[in-house]
Order: sequence, then structure tokens, then C-alpha cells
Amino acid sequence: MSTEEQGGQKTATASKVAPATGKLGVMVVGLGAVATTMIAGVEAVRRGLAKPIGSLTQMGTIRLGKRTDNQSPLIKDFVPLADLNDVVFTGWDIFEDNVYESAAHAEVLDKEILVQLKPYLETIKPLPAVFDQYYVKRLHGTHVKTGKNKRDLANQLIEDIRNFKKTVDRVVMIWCASTEIFIEPSAVHQSIEAFEKGLDNNDIGIAPSQLYAYAALTEGVPFANGAPNLTVDMPAMVELSKRNAAPICGKDFKTGQTMMKTVLAPAFKARMLGVAGWFSTNILGNRDGEVLDDPQSFKTKEESKLGSLDYIFQPDLYPDLYKDLYHKIRINYYPPRGDKKEAWDNIDIFGWMGYPMQIKVNFLCRDSILAAPIALDLVLFMDLAKRAPSLRSIGIQEWLSFYLKSPQSAPGLYPEHDLFIQSMKLKNTLRHIMGADLITHLGLEYYD
Ligand SMILES: NC(=O)c1ccc[n+]([C@@H]2O[C@H](COP(=O)([O-])OP(=O)(O)OC[C@H]3O[C@@H](n4cnc5c(N)ncnc54)[C@H](O)[C@@H]3O)[C@@H](O)[C@H]2O)c1
Repeated sequence: MSTEEQGGQKTATASKVAPATGKLGVMVVGLGAVATTMIAGVEAVRRGLAKPIGSLTQMGTIRLGKRTDNQSPLIKDFVPLADLNDVVFTGWDIFEDNVYESAAHAEVLDKEILVQLKPYLETIKPLPAVFDQYYVKRLHGTHVKTGKNKRDLANQLIEDIRNFKKTVDRVVMIWCASTEIFIEPSAVHQSIEAFEKGLDNNDIGIAPSQLYAYAALTEGVPFANGAPNLTVDMPAMVELSKRNAAPICGKDFKTGQTMMKTVLAPAFKARMLGVAGWFSTNILGNRDGEVLDDPQSFKTKEESKLGSLDYIFQPDLYPDLYKDLYHKIRINYYPPRGDKKEAWDNIDIFGWMGYPMQIKVNFLCRDSILAAPIALDLVLFMDLAKRAPSLRSIGIQEWLSFYLKSPQSAPGLYPEHDLFIQSMKLKNTLRHIMGADLITHLGLEYYD
């Protein structure tokens, strides 16, 4: 029988994904704009005050079988995801503000909705954080742990995780904290052994985000990285992730400008249109913008944002179209706008016989409104990965690239940036872990 469109690649051997029974504990590093918008949104959805718009896990469907089968269940009915009512939040921050106070300070959500959610939000109080201003120049943390060395600080985080584990059934961790300075991978990042030695010696290459990740993975807790920091993008963490069946993914939430880039660039390439230049600039005035105003944190972000076009355009394969592409990115801290970022893209493209054309994109977005559902989906999918026998011990969850600006991938494997390929990959992974037929979109069978 021909099963072209379904690919005939049924994964009959897929062993069963464990059910999502009991409470899912979510440990959020950094209770700032993105984190509080996610937490407040989840509570608003639970109370029927809002819809989870932008969240694939909550609103997305997945087609099963042939197009003529008319079978497209909700993703959350197809794979065993934690129910939002079973999600319990905790977290760390370098400031003592509870989630209500921090959300009010971030000014993303309206006062009216925050006041309704206040009794719940103010119960979530941050644990003291591991912080070092060397790695985030613009912040001065006051609610921080002290320890005799990095090993001691990591152990204190492990203690926090163990305490939380006593109150819930499963735990995942997500980094929603500030962008750290740019760190090149070095010897200390190459193996678990070297990393652990570095903890004892206070190696400068080990930033706080790595201590959280190390603590999570040591405890078998999945870790998602929403910032462009190195964090889990190193052999030591990949090894630890595999060893302890604690999935990892990163890095940097793909929200506004880069999301648009990874939609537009594949379209130009698919049509063999050339691109001479792509100038992207932003103004934003939230705390993230303030942190990124520091050149060393900006460098981390810039690296993360720059990669996508090169990978999508493959200038080596298409030198006539993309070899001379000039790609420039600017982020400008501009306080009056707060979280309401404005982004401009000017794209100089060229077509038939080299004739030039221009495209302008002006995206007036809300950073944390775009990022919150991504953070939620990552949390729920990472918990799913931990329960899926074919995913839990593979380390990097490349199928979650869909959500990430600078996706981690296996050594020697270029990352996939095209949003629609990423979306197909994500959905096929869900089909795969559930033993359903993969979909290749060939579809000759309809014309037999
Ligand atoms: N909003 C978006 O669209 C978007 C997109 C991609 C990535 N990001 C990244 O997500 C992260 C969060 O963004 P945000 O807008 O919520 O920023 P934010 O500044 O509002 O929140 C970050 C929080 O982390 C805390 N923090 C800093 N270092 C910490 C540490 N070591 N331990 C615990 N807490 C710490 C800060 O005090 C702050 O409350 C940033 O790294 C940002 O670059 C955001």
C-alpha cells in the first residue's frame, strides 16, 4: 500500500510515553518580565480570564493520517502534557520582589488583570539567586546567595531543587534571567570532570547560568535556556544531560524580529531571490533592554541573532545570491517604550537579472507577550521529553528549535532555522513518540 504522504515511516517500536500524573513543578530562573507574564497568564487561563494565545501546546492541533482522514486533535489531547491546573511555579531572582510586584514593575500586563491575580501572584516569592555582577554588568543584585566557591553555590541550588521536589511530582527548570556577557567555550566546558574541577577553582568561564544548569542536570531536571548565554551549549552539559536523562534545549527565545527573519528568509531562498543587505534595528526600554545596553551582554545577543540568516541562505551553496549579504543588527535602549519594542527591518533584495527591490518590516510588538507562551510551551514539552523513552537520554532536544533563535544541535550538525521546517520537525517528533505515522507531504496517493 502506498502511504507516501504519511511517509510510511511509522515508528511502531516507539515505547510508551509515561503519563503526566501529579504536579509539575516549574523552577524559573529570573522572575522578570517574561517569567511573570508567563506565570500571570497561566493563572489567568486557569481562571478563565484569558485565552492562551500564542501557545502551541494549548491551542495547536496536529494532523494525523491522510488529509482525507479529517483527524486533527489538539496537541494536548494527542500527547500526554501536564495540565495547566497541575503546574506549580517557583523561582529565583536577585531582587526580593514577589511575582505580583515584579509583574507590576515590568508593566507588561494591565493593572486590572494583575489586581485580580494578586492573591496568587504574591504567594510566589523568589529564592535568593546565584549572581555575580561580573557576568551582568548593569544589575546590582541584593537577594543573592553567598558561598565559599562555585561548587558551594551549585550545591545550594541543588538543595533548593531537592526541597521543591518534595512538594511536586516532577520538576523542570527554565532560564528567564538576564543575558550574561559573551563567554567563549574553553577547556573547563569540555567535560563533566573539567567543569567540576572548575567549580572548585572558581573558573572564570563558569557563569551563574551554568551553575543553575549544572544543578538541574545533576538532579535529573530538564533545563531550557531562554537567553543567548552559553549555559548548556557545551560538551560538559550535553554529557551530563545524557547521563542523567535530563533533556536540554537552547538558546534564546525566538520571538519578534528573528521569528520574522526565519519566515521571510526561507521564502526568498525558496524563490531564488538574492539578498544584498539586511539591516535590523530595535528600540526597547525594559530591563532586558537596559542589560543589553552593556556591550558585553549585547555581544552575546548579537551572536545569537546573527546566525540565522547565514544558516538559512547557505551562501556557499548559493554564492550568486547571498555571498555578499551585509547583515547588521542594532538594539537601542530607549526607556519610554518599556516592553513595547519597535523593530525595523530594511531588506535589500534582488531579482531577475539582478534588479534591486526593497522590503520594509516595521514590527510594533510586545516582547514579553510574545515570549511568555514560548516559555510555557518549552516547559511543558521539556517535561514531556523527560517522560518519552526515545527523547529523555538524547541530550539536546533539537525538535524544540522552533522556539529558539540560536538552536543547539549535535556537534557537526548545522542548526535548522527555517520556522516551517522547525514546525514540521516538532510535529513529526510528537507523532514519532506516540507511534503515529510521520507526515512527509508527498501526497501522490491522492492521485492514484
Ligand atoms: N522578551 C523577549 O522577547 C525575549 C526574547 C528572547 C530572549 N529573551 C531573554 O529572556 C531573558 C528574560 O527577559 P526579560 O525581558 O524577562 O528580562 P528582565 O530583565 O525583565 O528579567 C530578568 C530577570 O532575571 C533576574 N536575574 C538576573 N540574573 C539572575 C540570576 N543570576 N539569577 C536569578 N535571577 C537573575 C533579574 O533580576 C530580572 O528580574 C533575557 O535574557 C532576554 O534576553 C527575551
